[in-house]
Amino acid sequence: MDPGSVYKSVVETDDKYVMPTYGRKPLLFTGGEGSVLIDVFGKRYIDCVSGIAVNATGYSNQKLISAIQEQAAQLIHISNYYYNIPQANVAEKLVQVTGLSKVFFCNSGAEANDGAMKLAKLHTKKNSFISTNNAFHGRTIGSLGATANIKYRDPFVPLVKPATFVEYGDAAAIEKAANGGDIAGVILEPIQGEGGVHISNKEYLKEVREICDKKDLVLIFDEVQTGFGRTGKWFCKDHYDVQPDILTMAKAIGGGLPMGAFAARDGLEFERGEHGTTFGGSPLVCAASLAVMETIEEQNLLENAANMGDYFIEKLSQMKRNDVVNVRGVGLMIGIELDHECGYFMDAAAEMGVLLNVTAGNVIRLLPPLTIQKEEVDRVVEVIDSVAKPN
Ligand SMILES: Cc1ncc(COP(=O)(O)O)c(C=O)c1O
Repeated sequence: MDPGSVYKSVVETDDKYVMPTYGRKPLLFTGGEGSVLIDVFGKRYIDCVSGIAVNATGYSNQKLISAIQEQAAQLIHISNYYYNIPQANVAEKLVQVTGLSKVFFCNSGAEANDGAMKLAKLHTKKNSFISTNNAFHGRTIGSLGATANIKYRDPFVPLVKPATFVEYGDAAAIEKAANGGDIAGVILEPIQGEGGVHISNKEYLKEVREICDKKDLVLIFDEVQTGFGRTGKWFCKDHYDVQPDILTMAKAIGGGLPMGAFAARDGLEFERGEHGTTFGGSPLVCAASLAVMETIEEQNLLENAANMGDYFIEKLSQMKRNDVVNVRGVGLMIGIELDHECGYFMDAAAEMGVLLNVTAGNVIRLLPPLTIQKEEVDRVVEVIDSVAKPN
């Protein structure tokens, strides 16, 4: 079949049989190399979406492909009633990179946050959580309870005890909310992703840590989006030198295979039977995860993310557009806030061979693979600078 017919047939089939939750773009990708995605017509796009912060090590990464192929040939799945080699190895590595004590494996970011909140409830014998305005923690009934955006949450209320939402960056508001009693913990993204790339700071996180210590609350950092080198360090918390009680992970952890996890400090763990999942930590996803973490180390991707992030921000700050409110980011998690709604940017940039995403209505969010190179950054900035506001 010619590419036009393949495209048409896939669109028709998908539109007919898949629930229309995503508002698909008119794009069909069939391959990728490094930071570039290739569509069915052979057109190339510099990808600043990365499957929403998933494809950290770039497309067609040979180490990742081989790890998945070799593990698939050996053993794909085994019940968690039994040990498996890749799971033990990934757990050890995650403890090393998070500085925490023990790990639980699941299948997504929302599940990781659900599990972390269950663990906090069990530990404190309290029921509710403090979250922040604009926070996004997932879409299961449990994680929706800590997600701020009413667009996602309200159609499903009543939920299981929604969190108390306070202003992001305001530690005193957390202290005040904690006085309300029945609070098990605080859940925070060290940089809010979906909410519009809002960056916290050391003082805030330190104060929140102190409040949690004082009031015996469990501090959960949701690093689903910021983890695995996205911000130029293994985890965003490492920029701030603040350790949570529980750290949740997903997205880049499995190199594109569905995987989530959370790590908790010493003394905070589930006992036998208190939590579980069929697929969590399967040999296949764990083999992929090890390959991701080894690639991050072998290819110095933390350093590349930090350097390219700085370069990106410098270049973006020099754009001649006059509608930029500010450019902000850490490593390769970057937001460009415009003074107007800019959803149109996604299609316009794609037309020019750059994939990007718009969040919170007026923030262009860039999350390229950690492998991105200078020339690609230059091209992305050139495209962003040239997109015109529609009349
Ligand atoms: C910070 C954060 N937490 C949780 C989630 C939910 O992850 P998942 O879509 O894997 O359930 C996301 C997804 O965008 C996220 O950005």
